[in-house]
Amino acid sequence: MAKFIVIGRGYVGSSIERFLSRRYDVESWDILDETPAPYARSKEFDAVFLCLPTPQSETGEADITAIEKTLGSMQADLFVLKSTVPPGTVDALSEKYGARIVFWPEYIGESKYANPYFPTEIADEPFAIIGGEATLRSRLIDILIPVMGPTVRYHQCSALEAELAKYAENTFFATKVTFCYEFAHICGAFGADWHAVREAWLCDPRINPMHTAVFRDDPGFGGKCLPKDLAAILHSSETAGYFPVQLRATQAANAIIRGEAPGEAQP
Ligand SMILES: NC(=O)c1ccc[n+]([C@@H]2O[C@H](COP(=O)([O-])OP(=O)(O)OC[C@H]3O[C@@H](n4cnc5c(N)ncnc54)[C@H](O)[C@@H]3O)[C@@H](O)[C@H]2O)c1
Repeated sequence: MAKFIVIGRGYVGSSIERFLSRRYDVESWDILDETPAPYARSKEFDAVFLCLPTPQSETGEADITAIEKTLGSMQADLFVLKSTVPPGTVDALSEKYGARIVFWPEYIGESKYANPYFPTEIADEPFAIIGGEATLRSRLIDILIPVMGPTVRYHQCSALEAELAKYAENTFFATKVTFCYEFAHICGAFGADWHAVREAWLCDPRINPMHTAVFRDDPGFGGKCLPKDLAAILHSSETAGYFPVQLRATQAANAIIRGEAPGEAQP
């Protein structure tokens, strides 16, 4: 039986450990564990799943230190990266560490409200985006198919395209949330109720209802992923020479909506 190790046992790492344990021998290690790091045992594993944090640094840039530290310490036949990383990271780290890395961005969420569109187990997700070199993508699909089955879409692309697609997802949702709060405020200016306007708007089948609710006690978007990923892609894009007008506005509007910056937006 194939044997894997998951490095980083937070929300994503725990989910991946449950996922892999359905068909494979799997162990995990977290820096918070009191056991020694398994770096010297790298060769025991058929693949290493990296579920490490990529927190926001002061400049907004995603901090990939934990990923670099692990890649610099392990000699694995295959690394499967689950962390959300800036465009170009997989190609740059593959070259820097001489590592075979395939990127499988994660889409599970930590939303507290019911979500009929997305399951809470990775094994039940309806698609997997797999970015990287063709032979590595194929090896990962060999691992995934026995767990996820043949009805899932295994979308293959370059690592760069997969990295950008993951940021497109979260920054689109951030923008959609901000748009809905903006429109709720417009409704308020006219004495209309967003709940009623929202339901009317959603009669149009082109509008998906996710991220359209307005919460008076926790306005705007927050949580672990959306603010951090928005800041990270803004930093990456601006470093690459493109200044995203819309996404900067989304970030500024959210700060006003959440009361973190002065502005007119009242719930
Ligand atoms: N949580 C989500 O819903 C979600 C969804 C999609 C993508 N992601 C992305 O997945 C990545 C991980 O997110 P998460 O929510 O699981 O984070 P998390 O903070 O819950 O877990 C990260 C874990 O890694 C451990 N860790 C830190 N440095 C380490 C090291 N050097 N070696 C071993 N362990 C180390 C931490 O102790 C922690 O337990 C991030 O890039 C995040 O953006 C998260």
